[in-house]
Amino acid sequence: SQKTNIKALLASDAIGSTVTVRGWVRTKRESKNVAFIALNDGSTIHNLQVVADTAKFDENTLRNVTTGACICAVGLLVESAGSGQRVEIQAESIEIYGVSDPEKYPLQPKEHSLEFLREIAHLRPRTNTFGAILRIRHALAYAIHKYFNDNGFYYLHSPIITGADAEGAGEMFRVTTLDAKNPPLDETGSVDFKQDFFGRKTNLTVSGQLQGELGAMALSKVYTFGPTFRAENSNTARHLAEFWMIEPEVAFNDLDDNMELAEDFLKYLINYALTHCADDLAFLDARFRKEEDKKKKEERAELGLLDRLNFVVANPFERLTYTEAVEILIKSKPAQKKQFQYEVNWGTDLQSEHERYLVEKHFKKPVILTNYPTHIKAFYMKQNEDGKTVRAMDVLFPGIGEIIGGSQREENYEKLMARVKEVGIHEEEIWWYLETRKYGTAPHAGFGLGFERLVLFVTGMGNIRDVIPFPRTPQNADF
Ligand code: 4AD
Ligand code: MG
Repeated sequence: SQKTNIKALLASDAIGSTVTVRGWVRTKRESKNVAFIALNDGSTIHNLQVVADTAKFDENTLRNVTTGACICAVGLLVESAGSGQRVEIQAESIEIYGVSDPEKYPLQPKEHSLEFLREIAHLRPRTNTFGAILRIRHALAYAIHKYFNDNGFYYLHSPIITGADAEGAGEMFRVTTLDAKNPPLDETGSVDFKQDFFGRKTNLTVSGQLQGELGAMALSKVYTFGPTFRAENSNTARHLAEFWMIEPEVAFNDLDDNMELAEDFLKYLINYALTHCADDLAFLDARFRKEEDKKKKEERAELGLLDRLNFVVANPFERLTYTEAVEILIKSKPAQKKQFQYEVNWGTDLQSEHERYLVEKHFKKPVILTNYPTHIKAFYMKQNEDGKTVRAMDVLFPGIGEIIGGSQREENYEKLMARVKEVGIHEEEIWWYLETRKYGTAPHAGFGLGFERLVLFVTGMGNIRDVIPFPRTPQNADF
């Protein structure tokens, strides 16, 4: 018999042939003479119905077909009389691969809260919601590689362990093999990292950008796509301690080219999901609408998930400077101003409430902010003539806030060195980075897209912990 997955079977026209399916039981309904088993193998949001005539099976087998059990069914593929499905399987034999005690199985056939599902992250991929999210996450990862490959970029594998702090924010996880209780000390009495595994202080990378820039100074167009780590103690619905970042870096690009690339890239990815994940998105759209309906009217999203995705793809992003944005925020109606927990002044970093006000209330579309004050941005950004701003860009999305951060890079050695000294970076930590400005320096630009923030936007979920299989957050590294 033909062994295939449920997605293929549901689309197949092999009516009348004998097929084999394997999967996990979602539900079993029993009437007097027949049992209806809803089977799912994760290949699609849809279940396949397996119909078993009770008379054909010994009691033990059907008793063990319970929610959560894994089974293999062989039978005839027939047209389904029931509504909601085109085909079903008339079971001839059923093998129980693994039983699951229905009293104890944590995933009861009912709706569970997302909070509860986080506590059973080992089982939540078996739910409709997480199955859909994980398939979309996969499709987006594939689309990212496809976009870059089709556009002449090379995938550069940046290191996970590094001695550099690319963002200069000091939010790093130390990597060491030294005995924490009894580390070797140098003559001055401080920890002697020369005796550590790498002979120096090292940490998990916060960004692959610095190495990405080295790649761009040879291959012209590169991107990194890997895990990044930040020990920032922000317990929010938008932050993870371990998240995946996509960082393209392009020689000869300026800030305008960078914005162009970011907008085209994001639209391509959203479009890819719309065309390749239609079933999963339809399911999540219904879920999104239900969740929004629970909210107070003024907090509700104006568009449904699918409408929002289609809108973003079809309309140009708004582009303005940080300075213009601050003016809008200051001028915003007093009632709205009162909404802000943090005050806005030129020179302060925008909080996510400000970003979301601009996107959701003022422009009602994605926004790209540029030319931020130098002192709130990283050392590597290209300095503007005005002496107080840099060629930074942040892309802000509805429901998310910042989804991309990037910039044109400072390619002038002297100007870069001045910033390195100003912010107190040790030259010996990034001497290799600085050398690219001495040997054939070139204008270049790039950005970082937070992968989970993209998945959050596309799936319409509300918490970043729910769009990565096994989230890492403060006080939580289970699974
Ligand atoms: O703005 P960030 O810190 O920029 C960089 O790391 C640059 N090196 C990127 C570059 O120019 N190559 O981070 C980039 C993006 C953010 O816009 C956000 O989407 C995401 O990474 N991000 C996080 N996502 C989840 N959890 C966190 N703790 C994140 N911190 C940043
Ligand atoms: Mg940023």
